[in-house]
Parts: sequence; structure tokens; C-alpha cells
Amino acid sequence: ACSLDAHIKKAGKEYFGVATDPNTLNIPEIASIVDQEFGSVTPENSMKWDSTEPSQNNFNFAKSDILVSFAQSHNKTIRGHTLIWHSQLPNWVTTITSPTVLRAVLTTHITTLVTRYKGLIHHWDVVNEVFNEDGSLRDSVFLRVLGEEYIPLSFRIAHAADPDARLYINDYNLDFSGPKLEGMVALVNRLVQQGVPVHGIGTQAHLVVGNGAIPYFRGTLERLVSTGLEVAVTELDVRMAVPVTEERLRRQREDYALVVKACREVQRCVGVTVWGVSDKHSWVPNTFPGQGAALLWDEEYKKKLAYEGVESALA
Ligand code: G3I
Repeated sequence: ACSLDAHIKKAGKEYFGVATDPNTLNIPEIASIVDQEFGSVTPENSMKWDSTEPSQNNFNFAKSDILVSFAQSHNKTIRGHTLIWHSQLPNWVTTITSPTVLRAVLTTHITTLVTRYKGLIHHWDVVNEVFNEDGSLRDSVFLRVLGEEYIPLSFRIAHAADPDARLYINDYNLDFSGPKLEGMVALVNRLVQQGVPVHGIGTQAHLVVGNGAIPYFRGTLERLVSTGLEVAVTELDVRMAVPVTEERLRRQREDYALVVKACREVQRCVGVTVWGVSDKHSWVPNTFPGQGAALLWDEEYKKKLAYEGVESALA
């Protein structure tokens, strides 16, 4: 059988990827699935600010280095995630009030991470989840202290540190038409017009079985590529109410197939990343009690019907 990554490459895309980190990679079943099926890895948590710079200028790359060396020794590309995000941000950053200080802190953080992995990370999620649902910019220390300017600034600093990395803006709930999707398109158009080095839009795609957004997914990708940038599906999962039933698993297979087919059909959609290997380690049940089973392998590391859905969409 052919891997998901081989399938998607035959369909003209760059990679089929997965989120992982040392805490899941050290499970032999997971390491072997990541190795066999996927062409790209995204660090699920290890490159976030609270892991990499828990206190000022005190950088810690122990976990992210493990992920990066796994990728190198197993011939995987890496999507860096994420440089600037309001969440998993240590207190010492959120309490800064001086624009001069915050600009310097943001510059040091981005430059240090991007330089450390220069040439090894093909995509970076430079800014993550900057929008509210109504399409306005989300409140954060960055917006409060620096204004919208923190966004172009972040891209310029990342680009200076690694001119070959493709730089992404990433968000969730872009799956249906509405103000958040339009906010993203408008911001990207402004950035492009100002000559900001932004190269791609990531749509996370944390979806729900049977959700009405899924048939529209191709429409959302087309709207995003109307900016002239490439797009990637960066954190795909399709959760359901638990306990799991055969019927829900069958619907999940169709939902996964629709999403992957949409990327396949939109030329400038460059790849798909699923947000984890096994239902056993997914973020979903912690955040949405009563929901789960969102991934392609079950808690015993067996392929689910959803896996077939992805395969069929790529075949
Ligand atoms: O590392 C600590 C560990 O020391 C501690 O014992 C344990 C006890 O709770 O917590 C561990 O940290 C957890 C961390 O995952 C690592 O497992 C955090 O509590 C937990 O909040 C954190 O959740 C992550 C979440 O982002 C945080 O916002 C999820 O794993 C991760 O999948 C999720 O990923 C995000 C993307 O980055 C952005 N888009 C949405 C997506 C899903 O929320």
C-alpha cells in the first residue's frame, strides 16, 4: 500500500503531514506511523513561546530539537508552529506595556527561533489566530501595545532570518463564508499590497462530523487563494460526539474525503496536515468534553474508515 504522503505527491501536492512532538513520537506505534505515512511534521507544542522562551532570553530547544532531528533523520519536511500567538504565551510577555520593549522582545524571539532552524523549516506559521469571529483583530498584548503593525513586523523579521522559508498566517473557523474569512482575505490583501513577505494562508480545519461547512470547504480554499497566495490545510481533524458509532465513523470518512478532495482540486492548495495520529492523544476531548475520535487512527492505533476516506480522495 502507498502512504498518504506518496498519494498526495502523486496528486501534485507537496506533502501530507501530521502534528507530533517528543511526547507522542516516543510511542513506537506513533513513530512508525509518522515515519511510514507522512512527509511533513508540525510540532504540536514544542515550538510555542511558553516552551521555547519561558523566561526572557532563556531559550529552551530541548523538545523542538528532538522533533527536528527526527524529521531530519526520517526525511520529513517541517512546518514551524508558531512564532506569534496570544495563547501559550508566558506571563512575562503578556505584562509588557512599552512598545519599544515589546518590539525588541518580539524581534529577539522570532529571530532566535527562525535562525536556529534556518534551512530546516519549509513553512513557518508566523502569526496564529489573530482574528475574532467577526473579522476584527483579536485582543492580545501584541495588538494592544503595537497595533496592527505587529503583523507586518513579525513577517519582516522572520523573512530576514530565513529568506527561503515560506511564511504563513494561520487561523481556524475559516471553513465557511462569513466575516472571519473576509477579514483574513482583506488583511492578506493589505499585507501583499504593502510588500510584506507573506507567502501562504493556513486554514486549520478543526471540523465536526456532519458540519455544514464541509461541503463548502472548496469554496473557502478558493476564496483564500484569490489573494494570490498559496494555502495549506494545517490542523485537520473532524471530531464527533462520543461514544463512537459506525454511522458517525462512516460520515467522518465522507467528511475527510471532501476536505482532502477540496485541497486536491484547488491548485494552490499545497498540502494537508492532520492534527495528530491517534484519537488517544488528540487535544479534542480536553477542550470539548463529550467529543473526540477526530483523527485517522483509533486509540489502538488501528486505521479508521476516515483513513480510507483520505486515501480514496487522493487515489
Ligand atoms: O506540558 C504540560 C505538562 O507538563 C503538564 O503535566 C500537563 C498537565 O495538563 O500539561 C502539559 O501541557 C499541555 C500541552 O498541551 C502539552 O501536552 C497543556 O496543558 C495543554 O493546554 C496543551 O494543549 C495544546 C493546545 O494547543 C494549547 O492551546 C494541545 O496539545 C495542542 O494540540 C493545541 O494545538 C492548537 C494549535 O496550536 C493552534 N490551533 C488550535 C489547536 C488545538 O487547540
